[in-house]
Amino acid sequence: MSGTALHDTAEAYEPVFRGEMLERLQEILPRYPTKQAAMLPALWLVQEARGWISDRDMAEVAEVLGVTPAHVRGVVTFYTMYHQHPVGKNFVQVCTTSPCHLCGSADVVKALLEHTGAKELGATSPDGRWTVIEVECLGACGFATPVLVNDDFIESVTPERVPELVRKYKS
Ligand code: FES
Repeated sequence: MSGTALHDTAEAYEPVFRGEMLERLQEILPRYPTKQAAMLPALWLVQEARGWISDRDMAEVAEVLGVTPAHVRGVVTFYTMYHQHPVGKNFVQVCTTSPCHLCGSADVVKALLEHTGAKELGATSPDGRWTVIEVECLGACGFATPVLVNDDFIESVTPERVPELVRKYKS
């Protein structure tokens, strides 16, 4: 039997919430009126541990919080900041809503796809370092084009600034 097959079996699933992660969840839960209300931070913990949130992880969160897996899925699919598949080490979100579009955000996206090697929106570069997506208004319409690289918010990105930005996060 191959290693891949082993990882695919339900028996191979290793829960996120054990050890330190379980302790962190237990610290978070009392801050909320119900367990269900702690879903967003619980999902952040999963994403921190795994890098993304699989169906099996959603089932674990549902079990821990006492809700249905469909409920958890509804939350995960609603928010673009939760990843439903593996993404690059640097997750790049570019605003392409109308005001930023008018200021040239499409060219910023094009430059990012080219310089990161990701090539297509939502795809991950061959070196596993980059995933670029488009998002709706990031709340910085006066500073087009705003870009989020992981948790870093970068304003006024132009196609000319993209090579420097990619270099900065490459190391
Ligand atoms: S439209 Fe791009 S930040 Fe608001």
